[in-house]
Amino acid sequence: MGVDVAVVGCGIIGAAAAWRLSQLGLAVTVLDPAPGDGATFAAAGMLADVTEAEFGEDHLTALNVASARAWPDFAAELSEAAGGADLAFRRSGTLTVAYDSGDRQHLHRLLDLRRGLGLPVEEITVDDARGLEPLLGPRIAGATWTPDEHQVDPRRVHAALLAVLADRGVAIVRRRVAELRLTPSGTVGGVIDDHGERHTAGSVLLAAGWASRRLVRDLARALPGLSAVPTRPVKGQVLRLDGSGEPGFTLSRVVRGFVQARPVYLVPRTGGEVVVGATSEEQPDDRRVTAGATFAVLRDARALVPGIDELPLTELTARARPGSPDNLPLIGDSGIPGLVLATGHYRNGILLAPITASALAARYGAGTVPEWAAAADPRRFAATVTGGPP
Ligand code: GLY
Repeated sequence: MGVDVAVVGCGIIGAAAAWRLSQLGLAVTVLDPAPGDGATFAAAGMLADVTEAEFGEDHLTALNVASARAWPDFAAELSEAAGGADLAFRRSGTLTVAYDSGDRQHLHRLLDLRRGLGLPVEEITVDDARGLEPLLGPRIAGATWTPDEHQVDPRRVHAALLAVLADRGVAIVRRRVAELRLTPSGTVGGVIDDHGERHTAGSVLLAAGWASRRLVRDLARALPGLSAVPTRPVKGQVLRLDGSGEPGFTLSRVVRGFVQARPVYLVPRTGGEVVVGATSEEQPDDRRVTAGATFAVLRDARALVPGIDELPLTELTARARPGSPDNLPLIGDSGIPGLVLATGHYRNGILLAPITASALAARYGAGTVPEWAAAADPRRFAATVTGGPP
C-alpha cells in the first residue's frame, strides 16, 4: 500500500504543498535528504512583488502580486498551526536606490514599468530616502519607495512547516530520490530512493528545485517522447551580517539598489541580522563561496550602506535557484500521467509558496489547477521538447 502523493523535495515549495495536501486528507510522504538546505536556506525572504517586477514578465508579476496578497493569511495560519511560531513576517517596505546617474535612469525606467502595471511605488527625493534610512551612503542619485512589501525569515517558515507536517503525521524520508518509478501502463506510480527502496504513490509531486530536470530526463530515457522539465541552476551567493551588537547601526527597511548597473539588496531582520545579496550566476550548484563574489556583493552593499563595514560577517552561503526558460514556475500536470510539478520558481520561491501550494491543493482536490495559474502550466514547454515547429 502506498500513499496518495509522494512529494519529491522539501524546500519551502514542497513543504508548503505537502501541508496543503495533508489538509485535504491525502496521505502524503515527502522525500529529501536535507530538507530546507537548498535555495530556501539561502533565500533572503523579500516578498518583493513590486521590486522584482521586470520587463517582459507580466505573467510572473501577476502571480507574484497574488502571492504577496496571500502571504499575511498564510503566515498567520502557519504560525498558529505551529504553536505561535515567530516567522519574522513583517511589512517593512522597500527602499530602492540608485548609485549614479545611469542607475537613476534605470530606476526611472523601472518606475514607469511598475506604475504602468498599477503597482504601488513612488519616487522620493534622496533627502526623503535618508529620512527613512539615515545610514544611506553619501553618493545616492535617486530613490523609490515601495511601502507595502513584506519580508519573512525563510528558515523560520521552513522550520514551522516541518513542525506542522510532523503534527499532521506526514512522513519525511531523508533520502535522495534516485528515480521516478514507471508502472507497466506508463504512468508515474512512485519513486525509488538512493537506498533502492520503492515508495509507491498514486501521484508524484516533483518539487526538487533545479534538480527536477534530472529525474524527468532519466524517465524520458525509459519512455522516449516525454516532455522535459527545463529547470537549471542559477547560483546565488549571499552573506549574513550581525548588526545586533552595534547600537549605531540601524536599518529598518529592505534597501535594494543598483550600483553601476549591478543589483544588490540588504534585508534587515528583527534581531539584528542583515542578509546581503546576491550574485546571479549561470553556474552549477557547487555551493562554493568565492572570494570574488563576496568582494563584489560587499563592495556594492557598502556603496549603499557604508555602516555595514563595522558588522561581524556571520555566514557565507551559496545555493542555486531553480531557473526556468521564461522565469515563470512550472505548477501543475506535467503531461506525464501521475507526475505533477512544482518547480522553477527561480528568484521568487519564498514569495510564491502560498499560491503554489493553493494551486496544487486545487489540482489534487477539485482536479484542476485554477485558471489564474495557467501561465505556470508546465506543458507550455512540451512543444520545445517534442520538436516544435520545423
Ligand atoms: N529574490 C532574490 C534573489 O533571488 O536573490
